Amino acid sequence: MRKLVFTAASIAALAFAGPAAADDPIVIKFSHVVAANTPKGLGAEKFKELAEKYTAGKVKVEVYPNSTLYKDKEELEALQLGSVQMLAPSVSKFGPLGIKEFEVFDLPYILPNRKALRKVTEGPLGEKLLKMLEPKGLVGLAYWDNGFKQMSANKKLVTPDDYKGVKFRIQSSKVLQAQFRALSALPQVMAFSEVYQALQTGVVDGQENTWSNIYTQKMHEVQKYMTQTNHGYIGYAVIVNKKFWDGLPADIRGQLSKAMKEATDFSNAQSQKENDDALAEIKKSGKTEIITLTAEQDAAMRKVMEPVYQEMASRVGQAVLDEFQKETKAAGN
Ligand code: LMR
Repeated sequence: MRKLVFTAASIAALAFAGPAAADDPIVIKFSHVVAANTPKGLGAEKFKELAEKYTAGKVKVEVYPNSTLYKDKEELEALQLGSVQMLAPSVSKFGPLGIKEFEVFDLPYILPNRKALRKVTEGPLGEKLLKMLEPKGLVGLAYWDNGFKQMSANKKLVTPDDYKGVKFRIQSSKVLQAQFRALSALPQVMAFSEVYQALQTGVVDGQENTWSNIYTQKMHEVQKYMTQTNHGYIGYAVIVNKKFWDGLPADIRGQLSKAMKEATDFSNAQSQKENDDALAEIKKSGKTEIITLTAEQDAAMRKVMEPVYQEMASRVGQAVLDEFQKETKAAGN
C-alpha cells in the first residue's frame, strides 16, 4: 500500500515537473534506420552500454532503430535542429546536405577490401571528410562499417545488358545514380524504410545493399535473384549535433569519446561476420537464387562502370578521388 501511495506521488511530481533538474541525466537520442541486429544496430547498443557506464548514469542513451523515429532525410534535419543528438547515416547520404565529397565511397569497385577501407577511414582523408561536417552544425565522431553491396532484382542480373531498363532503388547519392545510368538502368532515390514495400509492390524492380541489410529487412523474400557483385560499400559516419557536443562538460565529452572509440572497435570487428551470417541465413531460407559471376562477367561489369570515375570526379573532387585511390592502392589494391 505504501508503495502504491509513493508511486502515485511520483506520478504527480512528474506531471508538475518544471525545467530539468541539475542532476537529471543528459539524454542522447540516437536514431537510425536499420534493424537492431545489424552492425550499426549493435554498435549503437554497445555505445549506449558504455556511455552510460563511463558517465556513471549522467548520460542516458535512447536508441531508436528501424526508422521508428525518423526516415533518412528527416533524421538529418532532426539532428541539425537538435531534436535528436546522434545518428550514423550511410556516407552515401550526405550529398543533400551539400557535402558531396563523401560520395567518393560510392564509386564502383573503389574499395577492394576492408584493409583498404581502414586506410581511408583511419587516415588523414577520413579525418578531412569528417571535418567537412562542422560548417553544417555537425561533428563526425567515427566511421562504422557495414559491408559490401550486392545486386538484387526479380530478374537474373548476370551481364551488364541485364540491367537495361531495370528500376533500382538507390540511396540519395549522385554517384550511385551515375553508376546505374552507366548500366542503362533506372535509378530512383528512396528512403531505406520504404524499400521492402517498393520491392514487394513492384514500384522498383531491384536494389543494391549489404547482406545484413537485405536479410534483416527480409528483402530476399521479395526478390527472386541476388547477384554477388561486391561492387560497392555501405558504411557510416557517426555524427552528433555540434552545439550539443560542444556544450557538454569536458569530462562527460571525454567519457563519451572513450565509449565511442570502444563501440567503434566492437562494431567494426564483427561487421564482416554479421554479413557472412546474413548471407548464410538467406541461402538457408531458399527464398532467392544467389548468382555468382565468373571472372569474365565480373570484368564486364567493371568495364561498363569505369566511366563513372571520370564523370563524377568533379562532383567528389579530383583531389579527394586521387587521395582515396592513393590510400587504397597503398593497401594492396
Ligand atoms: C540504405 O539506405 O540502403 C542504407 O544506407 C541503410 C543503412 O543505414 O545501412
